[in-house]
Amino acid sequence: MNFTFSDTHEMIRTTARDFARDEIAPSVIERDKNGVFPKEIVQKLGELGFLGMMVPEQWGGAGLDALSYVIAMEEISKIDASVGVIMSVNNSLVCWGLETYGNDDQKERFLRPLASGQKLGAFCLSEPEAGSDATQQHTSATQNENGDWVLNGTKNWITNGTSADTYIVFAQTNRELRHKGITCFIVDRNTPGFEPGLKEDKLGIRSSDTCSIGLTNVVVPKENILGEVGKGFYIAMESLNGGRIGIASQALGIAQGAFERSVEYAKQRKAFGKPIAELQAIQIKIAEMATKVEAARLLVYKAATMKDKHERFVKEAAQAKLLASKFAVEVALEAIQVHGGYGYVREYQVERLLRDSKITEIYEGTSEIQHIVIARELIKDLQ
Ligand code: CAA
Repeated sequence: MNFTFSDTHEMIRTTARDFARDEIAPSVIERDKNGVFPKEIVQKLGELGFLGMMVPEQWGGAGLDALSYVIAMEEISKIDASVGVIMSVNNSLVCWGLETYGNDDQKERFLRPLASGQKLGAFCLSEPEAGSDATQQHTSATQNENGDWVLNGTKNWITNGTSADTYIVFAQTNRELRHKGITCFIVDRNTPGFEPGLKEDKLGIRSSDTCSIGLTNVVVPKENILGEVGKGFYIAMESLNGGRIGIASQALGIAQGAFERSVEYAKQRKAFGKPIAELQAIQIKIAEMATKVEAARLLVYKAATMKDKHERFVKEAAQAKLLASKFAVEVALEAIQVHGGYGYVREYQVERLLRDSKITEIYEGTSEIQHIVIARELIKDLQ
């Protein structure tokens, strides 16, 4: 597969790289340490058009392709994967669904502010008893006398949970129909009964904000159903197909960051009378790391390019996420080894990259789920 990079792609890479270096890097250690949400950075990301990258300009977005998106995601995540996931959720899981399934009124009210960065979105699928087994939604939605919907339940692990303005929420509208009874709702944060819980104290991506959300008799106007009643599960799955490309590019960024830091360190750190970069033991590590990063990048670009060409990319997105997340963990771990004792302390940042990498094997479908998705697509192709 050929990847063609236009001047626009190169411009996106430079813009994202400069922004990450100048605006994100200076506060990354402190934000990770104290779990501080990067409010001002997110605002600036919006001004750059990075929160609605693939949304047409007509709806407030940047009107770019998926390749631009993964390029920007890699550059941002290389410096701070917390900012990467905030950006990925808004682009892939929130804006994409609104653009694809929303009517013009919903696009005007919800998509435009989200794509232009005036507001932030969150995606509420997971529940205490519905993680990998996403069909098992316990959150219920029943219609009241006005035809509006009343939501009750609990959502878990919600990225941008306490900071978002608009939430895409999945709920059961007909339990007997199982996944065909799940409906997707657009919920405004200020709706009575909608209560984000405390921010989780996480191993990594500590500056992104993750929480549970309680829904107690939350009345959602009938106009806020996204797509059709009973079609919510398909919206979730289709959104996650694109989301997995986003997380794969986040993992790629983490791996690239760990690799670059290792090379830089190996060139200046001396042992046995020379820079450790001249020792074969270190060279083998560097070669392994570079090869993994490059392999991950190829799968990420392939999935993004197929999405841009409107080809089916379910398998490729899952493969990109599976491989990029595995390599992110491995490369970050090896980066610590290259740094020796310095790799074990916060200042050198590779320990954060390892902590941040692990979640890429868990969210938006664990690696075990990616295997299932890939195998099912392959078997279907054989039938
Ligand atoms: N794309 C399109 N459609 C899909 C799909 C996909 N990737 N996966 C499943 N579907 C469709 C199926 O074709 C099927 O359609 P029909 O009703 O027409 O038959 C329907 O959905 C049900 O699918 P299955 O029969 O395959 O259901 P299953 O229960 O056996 O498996 C699953 C489903 C693939 C395991 C799914 O539950 C899944 O992907 N689980 C992982 C959930 C996940 O990724 N959660 C992430 C939470 S969000 C998050 O992490 C965001 C964040 O904050 C960072």
